[in-house]
Amino acid sequence: MTNGSLIPHNLFEARNIVKRIGTVVIADGVDIQVPAGSIVGMIGPNGAGKTTMLGIFSGSVKAQSGTVVFQDQDVTSLGTAKRARLGIGRTFQIPRPFDKLTVFEHALLAVQQARKVSTSESHERAILAIERCGLIKLVNTVGGDLRLLDRKRLEMARAVALDPSLVLLDEVAGGLNNAEVGQLIEIVLSLRDEGISFLWVEHVIRALNATADRIVCLSGGRLIAEGSPAEVLEHPAVIESYFGSPAFMSTAS
Ligand SMILES: Nc1ncnc2c1ncn2[C@@H]1O[C@H](COP(=O)(O)OP(=O)(O)OP(=O)(O)O)[C@@H](O)[C@H]1O
Ligand SMILES: [Mg+2]
Repeated sequence: MTNGSLIPHNLFEARNIVKRIGTVVIADGVDIQVPAGSIVGMIGPNGAGKTTMLGIFSGSVKAQSGTVVFQDQDVTSLGTAKRARLGIGRTFQIPRPFDKLTVFEHALLAVQQARKVSTSESHERAILAIERCGLIKLVNTVGGDLRLLDRKRLEMARAVALDPSLVLLDEVAGGLNNAEVGQLIEIVLSLRDEGISFLWVEHVIRALNATADRIVCLSGGRLIAEGSPAEVLEHPAVIESYFGSPAFMSTAS
């Protein structure tokens, strides 16, 4: 966690990100850091630009300006495939597995996209990712037959199959019941203990409360609060712009 001093080493840093889509200001000079070994939560109203930010961090969306640094390397000009190979994995807000491919085949495809390895090694890596995400019993089940929790787990397994050091999660707890959120929390914590850091966009506050070292709140193109979960969740600006908004009310139950 430390680099010889007491300052935690940042695995990932986004510096001075500026992003507008039409008239919508997503980011107006946003800085975000993910220290190695940590879980950073991101909250904010619907449409604030959280998913867009994950796109900027994973390489699928271009910002107007700003710098993205991963493992001390400037990756701003690299696309998704190169960033994935370096170790940035992501999940998508709406999981869309291939109906006819099995869980195993999904993970295998992800392994093969990440790096060239022998057939036996790619099979081993795929199985390991599936195990780490709690899906081993469904290894031969096709995507079309998975319930929501298992589709979310498959999203994570596809990201974990890249052998990442950072995973960007986009609302993996959304739509799950209380027990299922608990299972997801366990998976994320165990992956963190095995060395994966997370930037987790989530409306299910309980999930971030149970896992995040820090939370940032994006609203109106700025981080209006950042700090420990308690500090951010009790911050007046967060209460006003997020907890009081229909966006949160509709997801809070
Ligand atoms: N490709 C695009 N073209 C036009 N507008 C877009 C595009 N992508 C995102 N937007 C707009 O940018 C804004 C931010 O969207 P984004 O999906 O990043 O928000 P979000 O914070 O993830 O919201 P939610 O909490 O609902 O998932 C929204 O106003 C959205 O309509
Ligand atoms: Mg989103």
